[in-house]
Amino acid sequence: MAFGLFLTATSCSGDTGEKPVGALVESETPTANIEEATPTQTPTPAPTPKPATTPTLGENPGSSGLGDPYFPTLGNGGYDVEEYDLQLLWDPGSKYLVGEATITAKIVEDLTSLNLDLSGMTVTSVKFEGSNLDFFREDNELIIVFQQPVVKGTMAALEISYQGFPGLVENLNLPHSGGWFNTENMFYVSGEPSSSQAWHPVNDHPDDRAQFRIEFTAIPLVEARTWNWEFVTNGFLVEKTESDVDKSITWIYETRYPRAPYLTVLAYGIFKESEAVTLGDVHLRHWAESPPLPSDIFEAGVETFGHDYHAMFEVFTNLFGPYPFDTYGYLVLNETLGYALETQTLSIFGYDTYQEPNIHVHELAHQWFGNHITVGDWSNIWLNEGFATYAEYLFLEESVPSFSIDDSFFIPMYELVEQGNTFFTQPPPGDPGRDNLFSASVYFRGAMTLHALRLTIGDALFFDSIRGYVEQYGGQSATTNDFIQLVEEATGSDLEEFFNGWLFQDNLPPLQELYD
Ligand code: ARG
Ligand code: ZN
Repeated sequence: MAFGLFLTATSCSGDTGEKPVGALVESETPTANIEEATPTQTPTPAPTPKPATTPTLGENPGSSGLGDPYFPTLGNGGYDVEEYDLQLLWDPGSKYLVGEATITAKIVEDLTSLNLDLSGMTVTSVKFEGSNLDFFREDNELIIVFQQPVVKGTMAALEISYQGFPGLVENLNLPHSGGWFNTENMFYVSGEPSSSQAWHPVNDHPDDRAQFRIEFTAIPLVEARTWNWEFVTNGFLVEKTESDVDKSITWIYETRYPRAPYLTVLAYGIFKESEAVTLGDVHLRHWAESPPLPSDIFEAGVETFGHDYHAMFEVFTNLFGPYPFDTYGYLVLNETLGYALETQTLSIFGYDTYQEPNIHVHELAHQWFGNHITVGDWSNIWLNEGFATYAEYLFLEESVPSFSIDDSFFIPMYELVEQGNTFFTQPPPGDPGRDNLFSASVYFRGAMTLHALRLTIGDALFFDSIRGYVEQYGGQSATTNDFIQLVEEATGSDLEEFFNGWLFQDNLPPLQELYD
């Protein structure tokens, strides 16, 4: 059964991770620091540098959040990031990261200070237009004070030097841990709704998407044979070079499409890439941790363990409109992750979730619902998970002639509720609460909501609405109200009661009415 298999994707991963501590001395750019940060030298923790007095923030301080009802400190007010240019120097021996972030942002309010999100790590300097700025930390907020107010409508480029032992995102009461994970043979970065702030200063909210340039240098570790390790992230590889001086390797990746920060995945380890396959306009290429994953893991670029990406792309472009990016692939780790994540154009899987065909379908659907359209705030999570789950059933309907969504999913869900099993239907998905962000009901009652809508308005208007939603909100964020309004306009009917019942009331709306 599709949902029996799929549940592994929502189970807790039980992650643990190192606590980021302390810092080295003030650093130059990462490349200048390679000598000092050789693997034999254990970094010395030092206290966070603090200005002698807490700076005053002036008349127009930026805000510490974007008003997200579940995660009030995620994101920050007053600006809109255009690009993150991140230079990273990684020492696999000591697992120490030295970073230099150039963040280019459009100022949308007059500001005397602004906030960025950063968990752990130590900031050593902040530069703006050639001068050092005062800054301080409060939990996961990095607060930067301007010498002169910056004016609404201007662009600002901040250069932030930071370093430390990256670990889990702290202080946010996340439903599942996210951040930087070191394993014996590699590291990876993953987590929803937050992982980026574990390794770079960021406006950490899906409402602010930006371009990324990531330059990653790894210090070679001869005894650990890092010479054949690969660094993999989203976007496309612009350049990979080896230094004549110390044999360190640098990878540069760039994006062509802006993305929400939590949709960045990073991994460094022994990864093998599949051949690239072209599916229409899309280049498909996967990565797998290897060994010990079987070397024939990909079989071919398109088909793996019976996952036929060609069919998935065909079904989804027909139903939802063109694939919103130009590359896709997955990165599979030799880890039991307990979930997969739709990191933009490169979904991350554990070796467990990788073997579930429907999870491949689900993560691909998220590229439209979740990534191309991001959630306006995290209480709207069903717009991601309900849609991606319904897409799994749509894919089965299109590709398995005898498959009926009513008989295999929708009606059995009602039967479970009759038997007193509300695992898939409670809490109502429209505002599930922070701790229930990934509850089964967000996925399955979210999907049921869409199926009930389809039964109510008919196939033609339903699929027109879905395509209209992608067209109108693609490249932006959306809320539940945006979606409702769009469907109401497309159908010319008042659907307030319908959506209220499905998304916000405890009891499922009566089944019979839908089939009358
Ligand atoms: N968006 C992810 C998915 O499609 C959910 C990730 C939840 N995180 C977790 N650690 N379980 O399923
Ligand atoms: Zn999902």
